Amino acid sequence: MNPIASAVAPAATHARHASLSAPLVPTKTVLLTADPTAADPVAAKRAEIRRYYHQTSELYERLFALIRDDASYYERHEPLRHPLIFYFAHPAVFYVNKLIAGRFIPRRLDPQMEAMMAVGVDEMSWDDLNTAHYEWPGVAAVREYRAALREMIDDVIQSMPLDLPIRQDSPAWIILMGIEHERIHLETSSVIMRLMPVAELRCGDELTPEERSLWSTCESVGPAPANEWLPVAAQTVRLGKPDDDQTFGWDNEYGVEEVRLPAFAAARRLVSNAEFLAFVEDGGYARDEWWTEEGRGWLHYTRAEHPKFWVRRSGGSGYLQRNLLNEMPLPLNWPVEVNCLEAQAYCAWAKCRLPTEAEWDCAAKTLQDFEWGDVWEWTQDTFAPFEGFVSHPYVEYSAPWFGSRKVLRGAAQLTHPVVRHLNYRNFFTPERCDIYSGFRTCAL
Ligand SMILES: [Fe+2]
Repeated sequence: MNPIASAVAPAATHARHASLSAPLVPTKTVLLTADPTAADPVAAKRAEIRRYYHQTSELYERLFALIRDDASYYERHEPLRHPLIFYFAHPAVFYVNKLIAGRFIPRRLDPQMEAMMAVGVDEMSWDDLNTAHYEWPGVAAVREYRAALREMIDDVIQSMPLDLPIRQDSPAWIILMGIEHERIHLETSSVIMRLMPVAELRCGDELTPEERSLWSTCESVGPAPANEWLPVAAQTVRLGKPDDDQTFGWDNEYGVEEVRLPAFAAARRLVSNAEFLAFVEDGGYARDEWWTEEGRGWLHYTRAEHPKFWVRRSGGSGYLQRNLLNEMPLPLNWPVEVNCLEAQAYCAWAKCRLPTEAEWDCAAKTLQDFEWGDVWEWTQDTFAPFEGFVSHPYVEYSAPWFGSRKVLRGAAQLTHPVVRHLNYRNFFTPERCDIYSGFRTCAL
């Protein structure tokens, strides 16, 4: 362990930054522009970024604090992803790696940690088996690293040159990018934790009231409301975030794409567990006819019989749904969570289709009754750059994945309101099950 990292005990750091990370839930989006009402806009912006950084890091650590036993960090709960120890460290080393690449800091905290925890396993396809052996660090070492990083980033935020508005070549952009990156992993790590046995996580009475409110399960459970088609008139839509937008964006969101859309009808709501259950009960996973060729390959390889987070217990009468910290009778009104291959098979069975990205964008921005935000929504489009695309400092974020992934739009429940916005383009390979993802349909 690097001496810089081990010099700071995690508890001391937490105590020092407690006031900065409370409340854990940010209430305001950090804008790139100056607050005209602030007496000292630069100092105010530093304070705002500093608070958002600590809130995000603290929340991420609170998620991992749900893990009862350190041994669980090293199990491969999702065979295509690294064990959780990697994801505990990965968002932290990201800050250092990107600040070093931009020459904004003079030295690394822990070169070994920063090399080992930098690269995920996103390039793997669903039938790969990752048998590489890793010498993962101990959980305590990662906690120490994260604590040391909190000190370092806190210093960077308070001392970095800062001109407003923040531009992509500013160290503040790197900090904001690191924060948004950690929020992405808050979602994906929590989904991996849904693959752990519930008994390996702290839950129920073991949680503090604050933890209970942070990780509580939605209580709105009941029969699925009827879905309906919302008609959208033919129109030309313009996708892409303007360069002078006031909020941080990932590089793939910028540029311009004009699309001429014929009239179409989009479902008001996402496909519910109840709707998807009808597909499952009609032999949806037992018959090949509704699956694409890629879908059949996945289906035969995984032998899936139902969505990944549906559970059947012997002696039980129906499906349960696995949430982060509990199992419950399948909530019929909640959106079903599936990968893109399952969504495509459902559409073939139900004689409808997935929306294109442009249709989703148009419907979300023009229809008042369009309900979104519970889970990310698969579209039928393959991830591609908008015209005028330019890589941001995190060059490997988007560009390597154009042409191989499917676009998802919307947000998930864990996507905090200050981060969710209608321009966000998420993208994953179609077989991924470790994200909060569902879908809505369009009429054929
Ligand atoms: Fe990452």
